[in-house]
Amino acid sequence: MKTLIIYQSIHHDNTEKIAKVMANVLEAKLVKPQELDISTVAEYDLIGFGSGIYWGKHHKSLLNMVDKLPSQKNKKAFIFSTSGVGKKVS
Ligand SMILES: Cc1cc2nc3c(=O)[nH]c(=O)nc-3n(C[C@H](O)[C@H](O)[C@H](O)COP(=O)(O)O)c2cc1C
Repeated sequence: MKTLIIYQSIHHDNTEKIAKVMANVLEAKLVKPQELDISTVAEYDLIGFGSGIYWGKHHKSLLNMVDKLPSQKNKKAFIFSTSGVGKKVS
């Protein structure tokens, strides 16, 4: 399955660490929103979207990019995030 992960990571590179591990397992291409050529998204079967959480939302650069994406057919997608709030897993 051809996979693309679009991520933004600006504060502590937390999301980048997660994105790189997922990309390694999924053999995915990794790209930041500002680097993305939107016309290439149609080439992928599975698309992931991730960033840190800022004031309760994904990073605005990711959300702005999603707003510009043309509608896609027959794709699978997932979202992920890193954040400061949450229970520590022991
Ligand atoms: C300005 C700012 C706002 C944030 N707002 C939230 C928030 O609303 N909720 C939360 O759980 N974490 C919040 N965080 C923590 C970040 O989501 C967390 O550090 C995240 O892992 C950063 O991802 P990055 O290092 O990939 O950019 C905030 C951090 C900053 C610097």
